[in-house]
Amino acid sequence: MNRAITGFNGKGVNRMPEIIRWGVIGSGGIARRRTIPEGIVPAENAELVAVYDTDQAVNLEVARRFGAKASGSLEQLLLEGIDAVYVATPAGLHCEQTLACAGAGKHVLCEKPLGLTVEQAEQMIAACRRAKAALGTAFMMRFHTRHLEALRMIEEGRLGKPVYGRAQLSCWYPPLEGAWRQDPASGGGGSLIDMGGHCIDLLEMFFGRVEKVSCFVNSSVHPYRSEDSAVACLSFAGGALATVDTFFCIPDDASRNVLELYGSKGSILAAGTIGQGDSGSMTAFLSEDGAGYDAAQARAGGQGMIISPEPVNTYYAEIREFSQAVIDGREPSTGADLGLQSQRVLAACYQSARSGKAVAV
Ligand SMILES: NC(=O)c1ccc[n+]([C@@H]2O[C@H](COP(=O)([O-])OP(=O)(O)OC[C@H]3O[C@@H](n4cnc5c(N)ncnc54)[C@H](O)[C@@H]3O)[C@@H](O)[C@H]2O)c1
Repeated sequence: MNRAITGFNGKGVNRMPEIIRWGVIGSGGIARRRTIPEGIVPAENAELVAVYDTDQAVNLEVARRFGAKASGSLEQLLLEGIDAVYVATPAGLHCEQTLACAGAGKHVLCEKPLGLTVEQAEQMIAACRRAKAALGTAFMMRFHTRHLEALRMIEEGRLGKPVYGRAQLSCWYPPLEGAWRQDPASGGGGSLIDMGGHCIDLLEMFFGRVEKVSCFVNSSVHPYRSEDSAVACLSFAGGALATVDTFFCIPDDASRNVLELYGSKGSILAAGTIGQGDSGSMTAFLSEDGAGYDAAQARAGGQGMIISPEPVNTYYAEIREFSQAVIDGREPSTGADLGLQSQRVLAACYQSARSGKAVAV
């Protein structure tokens, strides 16, 4: 995408060729709250051009606030001279909208989950491949710098052989009229697919591929059709085990959203890093204590080693990386392969919950 374009933003200014022109579908939710203001607007290699939402009032407000064009339809958005589309609509719309974008030759960064099923994820991948368009999955928690630091330590062998992990993401999500997550037809499921997907993906980043699962889901508190409770036990190809616990029926402040990673040489324990911010805390307890550590890792005596690299906004990092991948003509680091693998693990979890048996991925 190395081309100079004149008249950028209608101001008659030469645009740097290294800028990706973005459109957004579903501008009124997470796009408005986080990804546009924290990602697309500040990223040096991105430019917000046009937005579309079926809620036209919200769409106009977003367009006005961020200096973009308000498109009246998806088709119109695709004609706005954009390079890439961020799809941030309810999960049940991801597949058909991604196919429409690919059909118009646009690169797509799709919010998780990548469609509702393995089959939809495969269709999305095939369509983007045919269009020679990049397809990314918005697993932005992979960009949290504490997670990246933990990954580096694991890759360096400092944790020893990974043996156990726990990832927790829970919140209070009461019944709401028309809430798409509360109906599996529009959300694909409840807490497991919506929040557990992030947890499983993170654990796979640290421990490699999940090959077998055993899972329970429940409707413990809320009367809606999607599950409000899920616990999944994961067995990884590399030998580690993990649990994911994710609930829509635990008050926000009561869930510390912990991440625990244990290996034969110690542990890395975090709270609050799983979520939408770039904050939280992380401490490592390693038996190799005494080796030379990075400046970013201040010692805390017998209390373990505090891991506190410079934070980077995860939405900013996600948009910058996807834009750069498009510019460079390479796969984005959170590519569609992650979204497809996530669907495979989630499908195995739901199958296990239905059958009461462990299921291979
Ligand atoms: N990565 C994250 O931090 C994060 C956080 C929240 C949600 N998400 C994901 O983002 C997606 C959206 O979730 P949300 O919480 O923003 O949902 P939301 O319901 O708050 O917002 C979705 C928006 O899409 C619009 N919309 C609905 N149908 C549409 C259509 N046919 N065409 C265009 N716009 C349409 C709605 O009007 C609404 O403004 C989901 O896939 C969700 O899993 C990601």
